[in-house]
This record gives sequence, C-alpha cells and structure tokens, in this order.
Amino acid sequence: MEVKAFVWKGDRLLLLDQRKLPKTELWLELRTDEEVAKAIKDMAVRGAPAIGCVAAYGFVLGVKAGKDPREVYETLKNTRPTAYNLFWALGRVMKALEEGKDPEQEAIRIEKEDYEANRRMGKLGSELIPPRPRVLTHCNTGALATAGWGTALGVIRSLKEEGKEPFVWVDETRPYLQGSRLTAWELLKEGIPHKIVTDSTAGFLMKRGAVDAVIVGADRISARGDVANKIGTYSLALLARAHNIPFYVVAPTSTIDPSTERGEDIPIEERPEEEVKLCGGCEVAPKDSPALHLAFDVTPAELITAIITERGVFKPSEILRALSRNSP
Ligand code: MRU
Repeated sequence: MEVKAFVWKGDRLLLLDQRKLPKTELWLELRTDEEVAKAIKDMAVRGAPAIGCVAAYGFVLGVKAGKDPREVYETLKNTRPTAYNLFWALGRVMKALEEGKDPEQEAIRIEKEDYEANRRMGKLGSELIPPRPRVLTHCNTGALATAGWGTALGVIRSLKEEGKEPFVWVDETRPYLQGSRLTAWELLKEGIPHKIVTDSTAGFLMKRGAVDAVIVGADRISARGDVANKIGTYSLALLARAHNIPFYVVAPTSTIDPSTERGEDIPIEERPEEEVKLCGGCEVAPKDSPALHLAFDVTPAELITAIITERGVFKPSEILRALSRNSP
C-alpha cells in the first residue's frame, strides 16, 4: 500500500509520527493549528513539501475554529525557517481566503499538485539516468517527505517502475537518521535494492567507482540556483565533483524562492544540540561538551549538474525560468 505521511479528514489531520519510524507506525490526530505547528517544529512530520501541505491544513483548522487568520499564519510560519514550501503554501491559503475563496479547497489542491509534480519529476529524472544505476541519496525525500511518491526518491521509484533496476546507497543522515530510518523503510516497502552507509562512507564509495549519480532533494532554491538541503549535501556535491559524478537536485517549483538571490542569504535552521548528543535516546557524547546542530547546508549552483522540476530539467543558473514556464 502507498505510504502516506498525512491524511486530511475535514475536521482533523492524521499524521504518521516519523520520529517513531521504522519501529512503530503511530498516527497522531491533530485538531488545532497549534498542534500542527508543534508537529512541524518537533519533526513528527518533515520534508519541505510535506511541511508545506501540512501547514496549509493547519491554517484551515485555525480558520475553521474562528481564529484570526493572521495569527494562525504566524503560528505556523514560525516553525521551521529553511523549507521554502512552508511559506509558499501558507501564502497560497492566505491569498485564497483574502480573495473570498475556500482555503480548504486550496489546501487540497496544494496536496494534489504536489503529488502530480512528484510523478512528473520522477518521469523526467528517470529519463536522464541510464539503466542499472547505482545512486547515492541523502536524507529522506520519499512519500514521507511529500504528498506522495517523492522527489529524489520519486526518481528512484520511477527508475524501478520503468524496469531500470536502480540500486541505492542510503546515507544514514546524522543526527535524525532520515536515511537509515525512513528512506531504507520506504525502499524496503518498494522492494528496491539498497544498502545503508554511514555518512562518511560516501567519498570512498565514489573513489571505488561504486556510485553512478548522486540524487538529493531541496528545502530552498535561491534565484541563482544555490540549493539548501539536509546538512551533508554540500560535502556530497564536492565529493561528486572530485570524482566526476553527476549531482542532481530534484524539487518542485514550490521550493524555488525567487526573492532570495544567493544561497548565503537562505536562513539556516539551527536545532538543539541535544539532538546531536543523543542518538535514539542514548547519550553518545559527554553531557558537558557543547555541540553545533545546523540542520541544513547550501550547495552552490556551480556544483549541481541539473535541477529536475515538474516543469522540466534546468541548469541551476537558469532555475528562475521554471517559474515562468507552464506545467506540462
Ligand atoms: O529536516 P528535514 O528532515 O525536514 O529535512 C528534509 C530534507 O532535507 C529533504 O531533503 C528536503 O526537505 C526535500 S524532501 C522532498
């Protein structure tokens, strides 16, 4: 059965608690915008497109409860600063309301469009990649991170669907382990061959000639084509360049932030140091050692081979063209 990260029920939002995976499949029932905001902040739901969809439904819950829409908007906005899809989706539902349209219908449309964008990106991406590829991916960009199918993982699923037999190296992705906990879980369900590796294994795998392409998602793409994504992505891009391996970013146009010119200007979320010092609830560092937890980094456009969107495949420096092109 198709993996879903969230299900809208009209008066409540069901959310698969991703902090508990892969051990437990626990569904949360959220009834207020504050509960939705907390679930986003605490990463019960994560992944830029999924955050956007869920925030839009959170807005609907707040408005239906008769709250001031500006306050609801602010509550949901102040959760995670890097994922552009959050601000984009909230902007859409707010605009719908201001124009006298139904924000609930708009939120449902956002979810539907995201799923369709993922299917389209999957197709475009799988056309680019030769058969039997050994791809390396970072973080989780699958059905759990989106309205369904996935971005980078969606391309991998489309490769499988088209009989191209992908093999996936799954970066475990410290400290949240989105790779080993979530991506591996999805790949297993899909029957896609894979192996989990520690983040520091990537370079040596490339040196050994075991990686044909790196495919990742994005949290925000600047106007000049720099890409913010899960911490560790920049290192992978440098390694891919050093080993002459293509480095693809897969993201819907809702991730493109035309008002931020350069990657340096993208806000980077800093999360609590405890998340680095604990692993699965176990202490893995001395209590008194300080730690730095940057959740994202920025890969400069120059290191990216191409950005795959639902509106076509673009050179990073030409990514703004995607915003003026119509969806096929
Ligand atoms: O901190 P997370 O788990 O929300 O980070 C997610 C990522 O970095 C993903 O690569 C990105 O959001 C794209 S998901 C389709």
